[in-house]
Amino acid sequence: MILILLGAPGVGKGTQSENIIKKYSIVQISTGDILRSEVKNETDLGKKAKQFMEKGELVPDDLIIKMIEKRISQPDCINGFLLDGFPRTIEQAKSFDKMMEEKGLNLNRVIYIDVADDEIIDRLTLRRVCPTCGAIYHLKNKPPKQDMICDICGSKLIQRSDDTKETVKNRLKVFKEHTKPLIEYYDKQEKLSSISGLGTVDEVFSRIKDILGNR
Ligand code: AP5
Repeated sequence: MILILLGAPGVGKGTQSENIIKKYSIVQISTGDILRSEVKNETDLGKKAKQFMEKGELVPDDLIIKMIEKRISQPDCINGFLLDGFPRTIEQAKSFDKMMEEKGLNLNRVIYIDVADDEIIDRLTLRRVCPTCGAIYHLKNKPPKQDMICDICGSKLIQRSDDTKETVKNRLKVFKEHTKPLIEYYDKQEKLSSISGLGTVDEVFSRIKDILGNR
């Protein structure tokens, strides 16, 4: 199974990815997570990407496309993968189509999750994440059991540097300009399913299972 989760920042792509990969036994490929790890390790890619990520701008297509091509060629992708945060531009989508064709693979479905801007701002400014295991929390909707401590690995939670109100607003603007056209792109390919991202995490996951089937 090869899937794309499409949606504005904060609609719940990372949260739903955790559920999807468990249920359908596929790997998650989050371009945001890969880039944050490159930044943390101060690699060449990380140094180039950092300036864009801090402002909520997109990292240049050529860097992202190379990164994805390398990642999907790794052996753990053999049973399928879920792309979270890629593609984000028409250029990236076209390159991905080409990669899939060259590898003789087929993209099964693109799930677009829709949430209104006001709710997104609330979700992202109150999000806290675990820098060690990547678990995602929300101070109101999904607080950790112990204040600012990860339930899973016990690390101290952090706020992502791009989760400030101003940067979130810019990320939403960038989404509308560069990523939203992908809805039409995949609709034309008859690969698109759209769902509302409102409601509880379980309710949203039920909508996803309705699309992917209850294996
Ligand atoms: P990336 O890390 O991909 O960030 P994003 O797309 O902006 O998405 P987020 O991770 O912010 O949100 P999400 O949809 O995963 O929501 P989550 O599940 O955490 O990208 C970061 C940066 O990297 C980009 O700005 C760019 O610079 C660069 N980049 C990455 N990919 C790139 C690419 N392909 N090309 C170029 N540049 C790229 O949920 C959010 C919050 O809501 C959490 O607190 C969660 O607990 C809560 N929540 C989730 N679901 C619900 C619910 N149903 N009800 C209530 N609260 C909920």
